[in-house]
Amino acid sequence: MLDKAITPSFIVKYLDQYVIGQDDAKKTVAVTVYSHFRKIAKSQQDSTSISKSNVLLIGPTGTGKTLMCETLSGALGVPFVTAEATALAQSRYVNEEIEAVLQRLVDKAGGDIVRSQNGIVFIDEIDKLKATDDQPRSVSGESVQHALLKIMEGAAVKLGNGQYIDTTNILFICGGAFVGLEEIMSQSNTYRYISILKDESQKMLARLNSRVKPTDLFTFGLIPEFTGRLPVITRFQELSKPMLVRILTEPKNSIYELFRQIFRNEGVELTVEPRVFEQIAEIAVEYKTGARSLRGLFEELITPILYVVPDNRDIERVVISSVFTDPSYFRKGASA
Ligand SMILES: Nc1ncnc2c1ncn2[C@@H]1O[C@H](COP(=O)(O)OP(=O)(O)OP(=O)(O)O)[C@@H](O)[C@H]1O
Ligand SMILES: [Mg+2]
Repeated sequence: MLDKAITPSFIVKYLDQYVIGQDDAKKTVAVTVYSHFRKIAKSQQDSTSISKSNVLLIGPTGTGKTLMCETLSGALGVPFVTAEATALAQSRYVNEEIEAVLQRLVDKAGGDIVRSQNGIVFIDEIDKLKATDDQPRSVSGESVQHALLKIMEGAAVKLGNGQYIDTTNILFICGGAFVGLEEIMSQSNTYRYISILKDESQKMLARLNSRVKPTDLFTFGLIPEFTGRLPVITRFQELSKPMLVRILTEPKNSIYELFRQIFRNEGVELTVEPRVFEQIAEIAVEYKTGARSLRGLFEELITPILYVVPDNRDIERVVISSVFTDPSYFRKGASA
């Protein structure tokens, strides 16, 4: 079970080390996960059943949904697995695929069924399960939704080795980009005026209008029963340029740090000036893939340098001061 020291604020602080921004999503996920485990602890005392709050993460591509869930598993120390909804939809035997996911959860718990029954399953790319008419029924996203909602609700699932795993207390987190949802919401949201204090009312309107309603998700293509199993919905924001700069440099295992380490291993000190991060972030904003393009852009800048360095053992320092100019090489014994 969850360690006593793990509170919502502990979880958020942990996430902050790796995930930049997305404060609302962090808080919502932290509180949901925390109360989930509190509820389980309580239900074990007085043997009541819990009502589960599975979570849906919605947000543009490359904004940290998958990253947050992976980081979360590190913070909690409970068994955690990720499944791709797209892979489930491509499989001919959905139930077998789902069994395999649960089997992985048991493996993560070191074979301990009881521990795995309090784990977390993250189902990514859930938006790709939207119902369409042009697929044969057996592999349609809709049938995957039906299969998933059974285990999300809580069921005893027989695993390959004949053991059963009860999914009642397993927390399910679903994530997806939901391209096009924004437009659906703008058509369905009709909150324009609320008669309370003006300042408050603006904030309230912004809040209401950014809320994803279950009906928006139906319109998008999720079936009502499925949406009903995801009572907590939180949104990830588009990453701004300053945030992209922070992502390059701040996280514990940031891209900059990663490459500095590679150069250190070559006996070279790499310095990238702040302007370069700004330039890279600017290009990344253009690419519209969130933080996803940052690594490639940075790598492109570094590759020619990493090509030169191993042949020149006297290079001790490299400074990059712009994306558009050659780097400066500083050699041992030479004064610049
Ligand atoms: N908020 C963030 N903080 C730090 N790094 C981030 C953040 N968002 C994205 N990244 C970086 O971008 C990469 C892609 O992010 P991630 O896989 O979490 O995107 P996603 O939101 O799941 O997108 P998709 O909807 O396409 O699956 C991550 O590996 C991470 O390095
Ligand atoms: Mg993802």
